[in-house]
Amino acid sequence: MPLENTAQQWGWLSKTLHWLTALLIFVQIPLGFYAESLKLSPLKMDVFVWHKSFGMLVFLLLILRLLWRIKGTIPEALESSNVQAGLARAAHGLLYALMILLPISGWITSSAANIPVKLFWLIPLPALVGPDDALKSLAAEIHEISVFVLLVILILHIGAALRHHLMLRDDVLRRMWF
Ligand code: HEM
Ligand code: HEM
Repeated sequence: MPLENTAQQWGWLSKTLHWLTALLIFVQIPLGFYAESLKLSPLKMDVFVWHKSFGMLVFLLLILRLLWRIKGTIPEALESSNVQAGLARAAHGLLYALMILLPISGWITSSAANIPVKLFWLIPLPALVGPDDALKSLAAEIHEISVFVLLVILILHIGAALRHHLMLRDDVLRRMWF
């Protein structure tokens, strides 16, 4: 399997980054709701460390992915019309935007609440802002709205991938798989 993308196929680095990020986000969403539902306790703090660490990992993978995407070729759209290709592009753009917005708003929420972010109990991250109650509420609100927008776009994204595979029987899903 080639490393780099071609006009027909995603290369293995793009595929690995796509599926690793998808896996992390599928863990990340229930983890966030679970962390929030817990009463203040050592368990809650631990679950939040996992949540913040996985979330920052998503952000790191995203940076790699965007750099790789800018550097290389993108497989040609397989959609049957320009409108569908445009919708797919818009959904992908929104997913990329959310993968920036979610980690940054989460990081600002923690910093504004004066809670240090430490990746996997090992690597301390600098505070993005100083303690600020109003900013904390605003960033938490943005984080929450982004989660719901993400859920909607993901349903459309996964639905579209399954439609291509099961109904249109084209190579859209196959060329993203290994
Ligand atoms: C959290 C989960 C996911 C995220 C954030 C995500 C994000 C993305 C993004 C941003 C792209 C565009 C790639 C680019 O043009 O650079 C993409 C492509 C793709 N995704 Fe996902 N995805 C997720 C889960 C899934 C799942 C579960 C499936 C399948 C059921 C899937 C199937 C695909 C396929 C087939 C493509 C390639 C489309 C093409 O070649 O035109 N994705 N995904
Ligand atoms: C892909 C990345 C992420 C996803 C999908 C995600 C998802 C979620 C979800 C589902 C919740 C519970 C619902 C809510 O109140 O918003 C949540 C809460 C939270 N997340 Fe994330 N998160 C991500 C990244 C991060 C990062 C990187 C941090 C911090 C460094 C973070 C910090 C928080 C905090 C502090 C809360 C509680 C917010 C509150 O007090 O209302 N998240 N997240």
